[in-house]
Amino acid sequence: MAQREQWGTRAGFILAAVGSAVGLGNIWRFPYVAYENGGGAFLIPYLFAVLTAGIPLLLMEFSIGQKYRGSAPLSYARLNKKAEWIGWWQVAISFVVSTYYAVIVAWALSYAVFAFNQSWGSDTEAHFFGNYLSATDAGVLGSLNPNVLIPLVIVWGAVFAIMLAGVKKGIEWANRIFIPLLVIMFLIIVIRALTLDGALDGLNAFFEPNWEAMAAPGVWIAAYGHIFFSLSIGFAIMITYSSYLPKKTDLNNSGFIMAFSNSSFELLAGIGVFAALGFMAATAGVAVDEVVASGIGLAFIVFPEIVNNMPGFGSAFGVLFFSCLALAGISSLISISETYVSGVKDKFNVSRTTSVLMGVGLAALISLVYATQGGINVLDAVDYFINQFGIAFAGLISVVVVAWFLRKLPTLQNHMNEVSDFKVGSWWKICLLFVTPIVLGVIFTLNLVENLQSNYGDMPTWFLLVSGWGVASAALIVGLVFSAIKWPTRTLTPNQDEEEG
Ligand code: ALA
Repeated sequence: MAQREQWGTRAGFILAAVGSAVGLGNIWRFPYVAYENGGGAFLIPYLFAVLTAGIPLLLMEFSIGQKYRGSAPLSYARLNKKAEWIGWWQVAISFVVSTYYAVIVAWALSYAVFAFNQSWGSDTEAHFFGNYLSATDAGVLGSLNPNVLIPLVIVWGAVFAIMLAGVKKGIEWANRIFIPLLVIMFLIIVIRALTLDGALDGLNAFFEPNWEAMAAPGVWIAAYGHIFFSLSIGFAIMITYSSYLPKKTDLNNSGFIMAFSNSSFELLAGIGVFAALGFMAATAGVAVDEVVASGIGLAFIVFPEIVNNMPGFGSAFGVLFFSCLALAGISSLISISETYVSGVKDKFNVSRTTSVLMGVGLAALISLVYATQGGINVLDAVDYFINQFGIAFAGLISVVVVAWFLRKLPTLQNHMNEVSDFKVGSWWKICLLFVTPIVLGVIFTLNLVENLQSNYGDMPTWFLLVSGWGVASAALIVGLVFSAIKWPTRTLTPNQDEEEG
């Protein structure tokens, strides 16, 4: 077996990990989730979620990947053969996420072009759903939409090119360019947004504490639900990325740098977006909460409207904003896709080229479903269910199995403390043994009950059975099926590849 690919430098690994974490979740999702959940009061549950679930699980995944040196399925199988299915389950979840994630990046690309001359017109909502998506009702797919298909082909083309070039020459190289560029572009956006009239009102709406809201369980659910997607944990990504580290690289330090960078970017996005919303509200003469739209709408409906009304540099602001969204999205999409490329490569002993062509090729093909006229409804349902009953659920199961059934926390803790300058102590174990499983268990149960009682987004039951429950269950079933397939000989012995390399 050939030697496992490796990052060129530790900085390269950290950049790639930050590139994975900073994505649509930060720019597209965080500002709205924070706002909806009490603005400033959300920041406390959010910080809590980062410290008690986000970072502990991130370090656990780093330790698993670096110690067992394999894709998520291989690492879990080397940890204990009985745990391999968790790795495949998480890989399958990533596969699903990549299929729709690419489509949102494609929308962002289109909008970066529209921003040049604001070709979205004055009714930005009608433009997004009507002119651009030609959206139909849930359950009707209609025909393929060339507006989405063309940028989607470009997105997958970029992913193919970067991933075929390999971990060091492709992924690391791309992130070395993308991340500094993203930071510079985003800082320009935030500075421009802060100098707009009404920006302070927007910031007040974002930061003003709402202590009553903090007492509602929904706020905590939102905070914990968000952190998994945002830190790229619970879906095989960080295990895969850390498996490409040299054996002695400092993990604890890297984990904290990465989590801190991700949260900083998230807060920065919140500040930029809300300053712009404050301007928008001032222009329309309404309160800030009247201009806020949910997830998809915030980026693709409200932002174009902000650009339309900007007194100066509107086009540049729009081009920068949507380019940031696309750039942040591509570096995350690569990491999401690397999970299955790596899993297939390890299990079937094929070359990187073959596994990229097979894995990414299949994902690209399936993503065409979301490029149809009815695609946005499928995307909405799949995104919701794969987050609630995929990522967060798989994160919960992985912690319970590793901490309670296999009792591997001491082994993993020894490993990460051995390679790291500063050591993590009982805080780490207490979070993974008690806090994370209890909080996530309660959240999962509440979510399950809610979704059994009423249909998400009032969508038809049969539609949710297929694209919601069906897709989330399929990921689990695929995980179980793949873990039943035999490994190539001698693969399961840890560090086999090192010895032969
Ligand atoms: N962590 C990535 C994001 O936030 C998936 O979008």
